[in-house]
Amino acid sequence: MQRTLSEKAYNEASKYIPGGVNSPVRALLSVGEAPLFVSKADGVNFTDVDGNVFTDFCLSWGVFILGHNHKTVNKAVKAAIDNGTSYGIPTLLETQLARLLVESVPSLEKVRFVSSGTEAVMSAVRVARGFTGRNIIVKFDGCYHGHADHLLVSAGSGVATLSGSSSSGIPVDFTKHTLSLPYNDFEAVKIVFEKYGNDIAAVILEPVAANMGVIVPEKQFLSGLREITKQYGSLLIFDEVITGFRLALGGAQQRFGITPDLSAFGKIIGGGFPAAAFGGRAEIMDMLSPNGPVYQAGTLSGNPIAMTAGIETIQLLSQPGFYSRLETKSETFIAELKEIIKGKDIVLNHIGSMFTLFFSDHEIRNFNDVKNSDTERFARFFRALIRENIYFSPSAYEASFISEAHTEVQLKQVLQTIKKELEKI
Ligand SMILES: Cc1ncc(COP(=O)(O)O)c(C=O)c1O
Repeated sequence: MQRTLSEKAYNEASKYIPGGVNSPVRALLSVGEAPLFVSKADGVNFTDVDGNVFTDFCLSWGVFILGHNHKTVNKAVKAAIDNGTSYGIPTLLETQLARLLVESVPSLEKVRFVSSGTEAVMSAVRVARGFTGRNIIVKFDGCYHGHADHLLVSAGSGVATLSGSSSSGIPVDFTKHTLSLPYNDFEAVKIVFEKYGNDIAAVILEPVAANMGVIVPEKQFLSGLREITKQYGSLLIFDEVITGFRLALGGAQQRFGITPDLSAFGKIIGGGFPAAAFGGRAEIMDMLSPNGPVYQAGTLSGNPIAMTAGIETIQLLSQPGFYSRLETKSETFIAELKEIIKGKDIVLNHIGSMFTLFFSDHEIRNFNDVKNSDTERFARFFRALIRENIYFSPSAYEASFISEAHTEVQLKQVLQTIKKELEKI
């Protein structure tokens, strides 16, 4: 496979952009691969600048549940651009998308739009602190909630590839109110609540962890968190930036029947544009300025193009049968993949249309288990697939995704290739 133009592009980019990329994992360092530069994408495929076509299971990190370049979304976006691209003044589109979110997600009474998942989570935490008048935030090792200072503690995703899973450049004082506990460990949560319960503003988590690879919460974990937060007057925040509109129209909270106080959304709701949102009970959200004392703002928040893409996407996802079709297709893929990995010291964690293969002989239920898996073998697997024009999410700490656009025939071909490559690594 020729990759000379990607190589050239990377060298050129590295002159002007740190590491040649605008988000670290794109450099593919943890899988020992040279970065790809993309020229276009359509459906489940993207094409690199050398003209190689890849079947995509990363899909812009979970954004494209409908596949890339969706015709309906694009048509609406093209029409919207003709009306101007930003006003800094409210539009009807913001209310329309807000209504769609509130009608789709059980816990939402009011939402506010921002431009990234990082902002959504950061703002949700601020409003939780404002509402409760408390400081402490409990998070879980390996969950990633964007790159706000106080949440970069034992974080997953690209941060997981740094030693200590935390970033430099953050004063210790900024993280002193953040406690990070092992995922799926309710006993640890109980101990922390016994000690600090009345000072805990919120517990935040990915209701299915995806940034240390997929880890599905154990049954009692989420319900335990719901109960204990209620008992102590703390808020429960679901970071549904990945799981929102992925696991169901109403996200993980609908799938598991657990109602958080606040939630954050991103990725899918922007339909490929920079839109994210946070929301929850009206009495909490009304703490936000201009109604209340918690400040939060954004020049491009509720951008009309992003709102248009979001509205079109959510309307398509709301059509009857969308999630059951995606679920059935994913189940078939997962069942066949399970057969392929049998006896190979590989663990397949999955739910709905998201999955991760861990190269491990032990169960993966928290960040420690993930760190003890064979990330070198994952890297070899990733590199083998890329040479076969298959692009999984490029780190042992990430989830891969199935979209509406993957056909059963394509998925079968991919499975054949995986089977063949696993024999070699
Ligand atoms: C669960 C979760 N929360 C927050 C974020 C941050 O979102 P963004 O990259 O849009 O800032 C991400 C990004 O991957 C995420 O997966």
